[in-house]
Amino acid sequence: MSKSIYITRAISEVASTMLREKGFDIDVYTAEGAPSHDVLIEALSKKPYDAVITLLTDKIDSSVFDACPSAKLYCNYAVGYDNIDLAAAHERGIVVTNTPGDYSRSIAEHTMALIFALSSRLIEADGFVRSGKFQGWEPMLLLGTDLYGSVLGLVGTGRIGAQVAQLGKAIGMQVVYHDIARNEAMETSLQATYCPSVEEVLKQADVVSLHVPLLSTTRHLINAERLALMKPTALLINTSRGAVIDESALVQALQAKIIAGAGLDVFEYEPRLSDGLGQLPNVVLTPHIASSRLGARQAMARIVAGNVVEFFETGRATNAVNL
Ligand code: GLV
Ligand code: GLV
Repeated sequence: MSKSIYITRAISEVASTMLREKGFDIDVYTAEGAPSHDVLIEALSKKPYDAVITLLTDKIDSSVFDACPSAKLYCNYAVGYDNIDLAAAHERGIVVTNTPGDYSRSIAEHTMALIFALSSRLIEADGFVRSGKFQGWEPMLLLGTDLYGSVLGLVGTGRIGAQVAQLGKAIGMQVVYHDIARNEAMETSLQATYCPSVEEVLKQADVVSLHVPLLSTTRHLINAERLALMKPTALLINTSRGAVIDESALVQALQAKIIAGAGLDVFEYEPRLSDGLGQLPNVVLTPHIASSRLGARQAMARIVAGNVVEFFETGRATNAVNL
């Protein structure tokens, strides 16, 4: 009998085409926006699904798992998986996978886009011209920040952090980093310098970029105390998960010019912004789109469908995050 898969939102058709070709039955939630927790539970209790493809906007906890006891595989269509209760999955023998892959260069490029936007004051400059304020060339007009020769400080150098390191090095930035494990390949190929603590990265870097998963140990990793260690000229970039930063502490630090600017693709209370964040001139904000490029989303779809196929054809789950 063919296996049935529930997908919690329409993703790239690459995934459904691949799965249908392999004989899977697919149901997709098609209403606009993300299903609420209750709607998801109701949808999953209708049929004995074998697996569920989830999105980072779905909160997957014990009540979701219990709505569909037949589903022993949850494949998250994302690199991050903090939306899924891994302990509850483990208790029920459920395998959870994510979608790591080279496409995450898109996230590294978006990280650079935020860095460039801040260092060249691109968004402010665009607004300046459009609003008719440009009255002629001036020597100090919208003075930006030099990147060449500056220090790029990375917190987390998994696949994405390492890709950002490469791009930073390519434009002449000097890379320093902290991670729980040393990345010797990166030290050799990019002359990157390991810092024994996050604090050390914050003190040295002109641009700090965060590439850690959201875990209980990384929630509010960047708080008021650590922001105070950064240079007053420094920029903070976050394309990982919003709650890695204490967002209200960040707003205060930006208002008080403890740091110079921030580029954020993710927010602590997404999609809501903390009070004051949207009014600051020294921030660039994008709506969690770092991997939203056609090729990247198709690659994610191939990986997520591949996770389903691999599990049912071989019993293996190469991209399992909870085994
Ligand atoms: C996006 O945020 C992802 O985790 O892939
Ligand atoms: C994240 O760092 C990944 O492995 O893609």
